[in-house]
Amino acid sequence: MIIRYENKNDFSAIYKLVKTAFETAEVKNGLEQDLVNEIRSSDNYIPELALVAEDNGEIIGHIMLSKTHVKNESQEYEALLLAPVSVNLSYRKQKIGSKLINMAMEKAKSIGYKAVFLAGNPAFYNRFGFAPTIKYGIKCQYDLPEELFPNIMVCELVPDALDGVSGVVRL
Ligand SMILES: CC(C)(COP(=O)(O)OP(=O)(O)OC[C@H]1O[C@@H](n2cnc3c(N)ncnc32)[C@H](O)[C@@H]1OP(=O)(O)O)[C@@H](O)C(=O)NCCC(=O)NCCS
Repeated sequence: MIIRYENKNDFSAIYKLVKTAFETAEVKNGLEQDLVNEIRSSDNYIPELALVAEDNGEIIGHIMLSKTHVKNESQEYEALLLAPVSVNLSYRKQKIGSKLINMAMEKAKSIGYKAVFLAGNPAFYNRFGFAPTIKYGIKCQYDLPEELFPNIMVCELVPDALDGVSGVVRL
């Protein structure tokens, strides 16, 4: 298994992978595969942060980190959004998802990004250092019930990256 940058020859396999992977997701809207295409054709796309896991020529995993921001009345703080991450059902629980996440976050740090946001299950993302954004006084643009606040998470790539940052993150 190798992890490498996605390229245009992978796009249709990635679309299918994401669509199928999210059929088993706890939380989904069924449009995650389209989100990948939308991000790719937007200014938020960062080619170095869109990775695939490939095994014997087959795309078995994918992750995308793209640009987002935290906004308040006086500042706009640039950060990253992790969405989506997908692993083929037959290859799950072999740490492929973890490798994609760790590698994407390391690359993000190496090119100067300081924080990564996502919406996801804390039981999975805690292990990578993600914590609820509410701890930092950051909310998302949706009017969520309070029990979902812990699912909006952020990981600082450098210590204290979010000191002095507050407002609303665009998910
Ligand atoms: C989430 C996903 C990418 C993980 O891929 P993976 O290669 O199986 O991940 P890893 O092998 O690195 O880690 C698996 C561990 O994460 C846990 N895990 C996976 N999804 C989880 C979730 N939603 N909530 C809690 N734990 C989860 C597994 O139970 C397993 O636990 P273990 O280490 O104690 O056995 C994969 O399950 C997937 O594609 N799911 C569908 C799409 C999705 O839900 N994406 C994430 C949206 S938040």
